[in-house]
Amino acid sequence: MVVPEIQATTDGTATLYRADLDEHYHSVKGALSESEHVYINLAFNHFLNFASDMADPSEERGDTLAIEDKEEASGAARKDADSGLKGVRVFEVGFGTGLNAALTALEAERSRVRVTYYSIELYPLPPEVIEDFVGQYPPDIARMLRAVNSARWNLPVKINDFFTLHKIEANLIEADLPGNVDVVYFDAFAPEKQPELWSECIFTKIHDAMTPGAILTTYCAKGAIRRLLQSLSFLTERLPGPPAGKREVLRATKKHTL
Ligand SMILES: C[S@@+](CC[C@H](N)C(=O)[O-])C[C@H]1O[C@@H](n2cnc3c(N)ncnc32)[C@H](O)[C@@H]1O
Repeated sequence: MVVPEIQATTDGTATLYRADLDEHYHSVKGALSESEHVYINLAFNHFLNFASDMADPSEERGDTLAIEDKEEASGAARKDADSGLKGVRVFEVGFGTGLNAALTALEAERSRVRVTYYSIELYPLPPEVIEDFVGQYPPDIARMLRAVNSARWNLPVKINDFFTLHKIEANLIEADLPGNVDVVYFDAFAPEKQPELWSECIFTKIHDAMTPGAILTTYCAKGAIRRLLQSLSFLTERLPGPPAGKREVLRATKKHTL
């Protein structure tokens, strides 16, 4: 992989640019504002607000997890003593710089909800690129970016009392996904650049990994992607994009009954 270069975005935070793909890791109109809007607010916080109104979903959790996932899943399904909410299982496509993971770890601490966060990445970034990137962020986010980036790959790592991170170094096309996922951050490079990741096969695999009522968000609101998700039985919503960013983004919900 060509080593990505640092670039500034309009909200003053940094992104990375891959010259070989002519593709950025985040919106050039604001890396932090995109991550906060599309993944933290429209996915994670939306799920927390919605889930807190639901009956105990642990009864719906299947018995089909891989052995190593079983302990974590039962922990995640436990009622949290502080917030009254269940733990949440997040799956991210593309760990990249770890920005979405770091923001979710901070949000988990803030809302006192236990999160198990899986993130898949085929091309982990070199530490010197990460260090330059981290230097462009406010101190609280920089501290968490360092923590998630220094976590080992392919093992669950406790980042704080509320956030366990499992970075998976693998190709999304070939990998087995974790089960019983509540929230998916679909943050792949654009469909024009990596069409194989925006395919029926990948979204079917992700749909199978999600619990009924689970949600997926992505920055891409293209009609073809929305129709593909609908054809796989997702309910879809086009929602306003981040400030100064894309006009619309996409949220998809897995139906309770197919
Ligand atoms: C838009 S960037 C993700 C940005 C990231 N979420 C962040 O917060 O910095 C897309 C990521 O997908 C990764 N990727 C590309 N092809 C992949 C594949 N086949 N399997 C897993 N990850 C892949 C890229 O290396 C890149 O890090």
